[in-house]
Amino acid sequence: MTLAASVADYRLLARRRLPRALFDYIDGGAGNELTLAANRADLDALRLRQRVLRGVAAAGTAVEVLGQKLAQPVILGPVGLAGLYARRGEAQAARAAAAAGVPFCLSTVSICSIEEVAAASPAPFWFQLYVIRDRGYARELLARARAAGCATLVFTVDLPVFATRYRDVRNGMAGSATLGMRLARAWDAVRHAGWLLDVPLGGRPLTFGNLARAVPSARSLEAMKGWVDAQFDPAIAWRDLGWLREQWPGSILIKGVLDVDDARAAAGIGADGVLVSNHGGRQLDGAPSAISVLPRIVEAVGDRLEVLVDGGIRSGQDVAKALACGARAVMIGRAWAYALAARGEAGVGEVLALLRRELEVTLMLLGVEGAGQVDATALDGAGGV
Ligand SMILES: Cc1cc2nc3c(=O)[nH]c(=O)nc-3n(C[C@H](O)[C@H](O)[C@H](O)COP(=O)(O)O)c2cc1C
Repeated sequence: MTLAASVADYRLLARRRLPRALFDYIDGGAGNELTLAANRADLDALRLRQRVLRGVAAAGTAVEVLGQKLAQPVILGPVGLAGLYARRGEAQAARAAAAAGVPFCLSTVSICSIEEVAAASPAPFWFQLYVIRDRGYARELLARARAAGCATLVFTVDLPVFATRYRDVRNGMAGSATLGMRLARAWDAVRHAGWLLDVPLGGRPLTFGNLARAVPSARSLEAMKGWVDAQFDPAIAWRDLGWLREQWPGSILIKGVLDVDDARAAAGIGADGVLVSNHGGRQLDGAPSAISVLPRIVEAVGDRLEVLVDGGIRSGQDVAKALACGARAVMIGRAWAYALAARGEAGVGEVLALLRRELEVTLMLLGVEGAGQVDATALDGAGGV
């Protein structure tokens, strides 16, 4: 077994295990991947302020987010099709998150259904909903999530259309693939026998668990894209979100906000929080990094909303930087997706443990006793974004 020391190592393990097209679907971003790169570059550009001899003998990583106690300020964000990366992948990840004391957020476009994850997970999880044209279907999904004990709804608003991701186009994942592409994909699957035996051949049929009526097969992104094109409602506006607040008595986190005015609008519709996010660089290529706009948004709405961030988080140091920029907590996407693809539930648990250990060490080197005490003074003034 290869020893993996960092999230980057899990990425390499995932690349080895998965067929190329599937790895690229996880790893890639929209357009020229400028925003994808900016998420990382802007985190890297921040410098932490080392303090010494402050008598910090131990540091606590626990925080409270939307009324829930988390062992560390990290949430497994919604990642579609995770059940294609490892067998019944969402159930595995939910179990790993529960064991680590952090929430798992189930995507609308998951392989495992809400009910399957509820049966597998010993802890309540969060549910992510896309803007869906068929309000009846949306209501049904919300009712199912509520029945499964989900307390927090993540409402994703940055995917009114599906942005072009060049890697997916080249791999024949984003439109109708030619016969040559399909054959190449089949051959690539055969070359990744570990994955082939674990996922397509090893378990129950692969379908979109939550969308059984809407999308019969999950064997390609095409099915998902077709559903997105037909069902996602680009005409929806803030004023239409009253129904959501009425439907959902629990917490609502609006995911995909990058603009101060939009964050204010989220507060206006009665949301409990916003997730500052550019969908991991997978939507508007050229949009700013999430970390660079975070401080502005915290300043504008931080007194009314809980502000979280995602995009490029790959280490405990990154988590500390996000806290220093004002986030209450972070979501991770690819970090857990790579780990799941590499080593299933154990891998996700390992990545969560490594993020927590790195955060703990970082807090001690910053000279603070708890994650909740990290603020802008933890940043070295010279390196700000
Ligand atoms: C493979 C993949 C699938 C995703 N699927 C969804 C999804 O179904 N719903 C959603 O709201 N966000 C989705 N996202 C976005 C993530 O929730 C998150 O915003 C992003 O991955 C954060 O960036 P990071 O991967 O650099 O951590 C997806 C991201 C990836 C990488």
